[in-house]
Amino acid sequence: MYDQAIAALPIRAADFDRVRKLAHSVFGLDLRSGKEALVSARLSKRVRDLGLADIPQYLRTVEEDRTGRELACLIDALTTNFTSFLREPQHFEILRGLILPSLENHARFQLWSAGCSTGEEPYSILFTIADHLGERGVSRLNLLATDISTRALDAARGGVYPLDRIKEMPPSWPKLYFQRGRGAQEGLIRVRPEWRQRIAFDRINLMEDLSRVPKSHVIFCRNVMIYFDKATQEQLIRRFTDRLEPGGWLLIGHSEGLMGVRHDLEFVRPAVYRKPPLRGER
Ligand SMILES: C[S@@+](CC[C@H](N)C(=O)[O-])C[C@H]1O[C@@H](n2cnc3c(N)ncnc32)[C@H](O)[C@@H]1O
Repeated sequence: MYDQAIAALPIRAADFDRVRKLAHSVFGLDLRSGKEALVSARLSKRVRDLGLADIPQYLRTVEEDRTGRELACLIDALTTNFTSFLREPQHFEILRGLILPSLENHARFQLWSAGCSTGEEPYSILFTIADHLGERGVSRLNLLATDISTRALDAARGGVYPLDRIKEMPPSWPKLYFQRGRGAQEGLIRVRPEWRQRIAFDRINLMEDLSRVPKSHVIFCRNVMIYFDKATQEQLIRRFTDRLEPGGWLLIGHSEGLMGVRHDLEFVRPAVYRKPPLRGER
């Protein structure tokens, strides 16, 4: 994703510290010492693209840009967007076998893919529900997909992927949900427009006020908190709990256990938590 041919510029300890503090306060990223080479590699491309001399000059540019556009570029450069279709497949089995049955009696249900990156996660959720519940099920679904990275969100909205990504999918998906590129688009697939339209994509920084996010029956927030420190994780879990309906589900990445994080959720199984249902409901 990052141009390896670009030589990384040197980064002084004081400048690394500026980036570390900024990234932590703006979007929760916990950059430990040892990440200097990674940070300088990721910022060097931006420094060169803007025709600047060095990283200190770039950081001044970020701080002086009152539009926030360069800060968004800095965030794009520092976030890790790796993802795939049906990543951590157990979650999609749980969605089919446990979560959707619990929502059977709901006229409408709200799902939120928080930290959706380039879209593979929300499209996997949508296609799993479509396979399992058909058109009637999908018409009951509101699916919100959000990320802080504008670059990742643009890719998610576009829904264009290299053809070889079909290896990650069940054999029926390419025909049902994608179009194959021809001519200049050869080697690419694109999510069919009628499916792209079913997802509401939005830019939301999980460090900010989440009260505008509708209460959800299910929140997928996988492989996002892994980059946050414990205190930030704890705050975020509390705010997710507030945005969940009673009995709502929170799915996190399997490498992100909530060990040492205080929360009011029920443990269901590794990487699956549930807000306690109202009395008498399950
Ligand atoms: C590694 S990807 C995970 C994508 C997907 N959830 C998955 O598990 O495959 C992490 C995503 O979290 C996003 N992210 C990081 N910090 C964020 C924040 N403070 N608010 C919203 N999104 C954030 C990044 O931009 C990135 O797209």
